[in-house]
Amino acid sequence: FPLQTLNTFGIAAKAHAYLRVTKTEQLFGVYADAIWATSSKLILGGGSNLLFTQDFSGLVLHMDLRGREHVRSDAMHHYVRAAAGENWHAFVQWTLVHGYAGLENLSLIPGTAGAAPIQNIGAYGIEVKDVLHSVTVFDAGTRSTREMLAAECRFGYRDSIFKQPEGRDLIVLDVTFALPRAWQPNLRYAELAQALAQQNLAAPTAQQVADTVIAIRRRKLPDPAQIGNAGSFFKNPVVSGAQCAALLQQFPALVHHRQPDGSEKLAAGWLIDQCGWKGRTLGAAGVYPQQALVLVNQGGATGAEVVALARAIQADVQARYGVLLEPEPVFI
Ligand code: EPU
Repeated sequence: FPLQTLNTFGIAAKAHAYLRVTKTEQLFGVYADAIWATSSKLILGGGSNLLFTQDFSGLVLHMDLRGREHVRSDAMHHYVRAAAGENWHAFVQWTLVHGYAGLENLSLIPGTAGAAPIQNIGAYGIEVKDVLHSVTVFDAGTRSTREMLAAECRFGYRDSIFKQPEGRDLIVLDVTFALPRAWQPNLRYAELAQALAQQNLAAPTAQQVADTVIAIRRRKLPDPAQIGNAGSFFKNPVVSGAQCAALLQQFPALVHHRQPDGSEKLAAGWLIDQCGWKGRTLGAAGVYPQQALVLVNQGGATGAEVVALARAIQADVQARYGVLLEPEPVFI
């Protein structure tokens, strides 16, 4: 089964078998089947955070469950829910149109609602974990569904239980957010605050915040519909305060953000840029000229070419800064 249109990198990989999941009952069917229950499986959402390095010899479960709803409201929050297959950005827009603010900083992130908690998507001062109430999962181990509260999801920076061995049996069916009734714009991210200030929006509406985030993203990040990519290809590395101080001695312009525990998050895009990789190519794989953190498929790239480019970048950054960049997408 061809997967090229099902991954935003546009890699021409194939799967041995494929099932579009539009009803939870289909999952019960798959896991009750002697052959399919034990075959290797790939849970696919929007395909915007993975890199096929070869064909997939198992079963692709393409999550296409649909539905979005306002569940209830209490004194503090509005609770809204999206089924796993809903497009993330369309869901964010839907919440804003219905007057439920709080997801606007996460506008225009590619992918599905069901994938949002897997890597704890984050941008412009907020992560999904900050507003996520619970997820409903199908547990392939017990062949049953259950609700998991945010605290059970072990969220970290671009990480959750769903990326860990303990979570390998869990398939996200839907996601519920608790959005504050007393909404305030989140202007923690300096670039966003500046962009709003430039439009003289001292007290922006949630839709104005969304529109500004969309404009920033369009300027910096390639549209996967135009040029294949999976967003940031590397995580921003976290180093100790001491290592950061030593690096600053040598590289005073180093971009760094202090974390609550005293460690420092470095900007991978800056490190790659400084190593001269912006706009460079290796075969059909390239570094996006407007944002060094994004690797792109310039047309017909194989996963192996993208991996070769990533390894070359890692080696240069390691040699110059002593920091190992960790890829963000999942390699299949
Ligand atoms: N920078 C450069 N050169 C570059 C790219 C960046 O010097 O080519 C510098 C920038 O000038 C800035 C710093 O690096 O000082 C950070 O760049 P930016 O603000 O663009 O954000 P980022 O660290 O590159 C992260 C997330 C993005 C998210 C933005 C906004 C990660 C790995 N990436 O990018 O997430 O949209 O912040 O919050 O955490 C994604 O995960 O796919 C993604 C796009």
